[in-house]
Amino acid sequence: MAKNFYITTPIFYPNANPHMGHAYTTLSCDVLARYHRLAGHDTYFLTGTDEHTEKVIQAAKEHNQDPEKYLEDVVARFKNLYKDLNISYDQFVRTSDQTVHWPGAIEMWNRLVASGDIYKGEYSGLYCVGCEAFLTEKELVDGMCPNHNKVPERVTEENYFFRLSKYALKLEQIISSDTIRIFPAARKNEALSFIKGGLDDVSFSRPKEKMSWGIPVPGDPSQTMYIWVDALSNYITALGFGRDNANMRFWPGMHVIGKDILRFHAIYWPAMLLSAKIPLPHTIFVHGLITSGGRKMSKTLGNIVDPFTVMNEYGTDALRYYLARQVHPFEDSDFTMEKFKEAYNANLVNGLGNFVARVMQMAVVYLKEPVEITKETQPDVSVVAHLDAFEINKAIDGIWERIGHDDALIATKKPFSKIKSDKESERDEAITVIKKLVRELHAIAIELAPFMPETSEKIKKAVLNHKKPENLFPRKE
Ligand code: MSP
Repeated sequence: MAKNFYITTPIFYPNANPHMGHAYTTLSCDVLARYHRLAGHDTYFLTGTDEHTEKVIQAAKEHNQDPEKYLEDVVARFKNLYKDLNISYDQFVRTSDQTVHWPGAIEMWNRLVASGDIYKGEYSGLYCVGCEAFLTEKELVDGMCPNHNKVPERVTEENYFFRLSKYALKLEQIISSDTIRIFPAARKNEALSFIKGGLDDVSFSRPKEKMSWGIPVPGDPSQTMYIWVDALSNYITALGFGRDNANMRFWPGMHVIGKDILRFHAIYWPAMLLSAKIPLPHTIFVHGLITSGGRKMSKTLGNIVDPFTVMNEYGTDALRYYLARQVHPFEDSDFTMEKFKEAYNANLVNGLGNFVARVMQMAVVYLKEPVEITKETQPDVSVVAHLDAFEINKAIDGIWERIGHDDALIATKKPFSKIKSDKESERDEAITVIKKLVRELHAIAIELAPFMPETSEKIKKAVLNHKKPENLFPRKE
């Protein structure tokens, strides 16, 4: 039986248009999903939107729309981004979907209750609207939420609580023993430090009058489920948990998240699963954030680089290339149009594009028939190892090293001039080199498939049909 591979993006807040950060997370998952499919694994790739946020209500009001209509529009924009970016997701889950998502979220709540882990209490805390979460004093920096630079509001209300404290020891064991592998190590340590700092029980619901937009607590409609309880469940409700379990064979899977939501994924979610007696995810990859000009991308700072604009001008695979190779998977990376253009010209126009054109030009002119491609080469083992460690940038680096090596072969062996030699041996040698280069091109195309699927197809077709492809990456000023 084929190995199962299940990968998830965070589900995004649809209170604004998708930006480069969303594109990055989703592209990383897409590369891995495509690679596992090519390796013959039974693969399932989930993404979606986290819709029960007060921010949606606010944004809808600002646009004079009702939330449902507003959400339809934003979700359509996310789906357009995925279409343009060639994202091969299998399912797009929406937490407002009462058929797909709600039954499992309710089942999850009921299981927490059955384990004796939910109790009612009075809550007084500091609530950050940006995080949609209560923050502890310890988490504040200069009295402000470090993610949103805002002073949280003091709120006192009746809530249901989850006995997170009960799971502290168990979570510590699970994380330190790599039962859940958290990458990179710095994030694993950060998760362990959350536990060492002490885990208090957490509020898992809010009064309906404060939060009406959400899933009612089973048996007590005066309370609404806290957004993170609702949201985290998506990773299994989408597979049929609480309904038909149709795709539950894919669980447990792997989560890809930004470093901003580590606590929820490394602490809350595993504790909920332990309480509900459901297997734990095997891996959590935590990537850095994309900045622009050294600062967080934001509308107010005016430094947003819009993925649609980049793709309209440079094409899908140019953006896929940039995100996969030039963005560091674990550290914060800066995205500016200057850097993008530099990489585009150096590595796509002059690098890959030029190499493909030169090789196929020689092949078409000097070889009478297409080069026979005997075997569908598998990706190089080093690519495999890097992808398994989520080192997407290193995996693709290897492909460019190969291109560089092959380019050097053209320069040293000079098949373009030897082919015109008077000596038959030199002409034969030139033919051998050109054939080798064409086979290399095909092998490179195969390695490129998870990263740049369209380009990969175009190169394969050029080789098999023995013709020069269209200009893959037009030069831009
Ligand atoms: N809805 C929650 C997640 C719930 S998951 C059960 C949420 N949504 S979000 O819209 O704010 O998306 C957060 C995620 O989007 C980050 O964890 C990250 O994966 C991605 N990114 C958002 N901004 C980003 C950057 N500037 N750079 C890279 N990724 C970023 O939190």
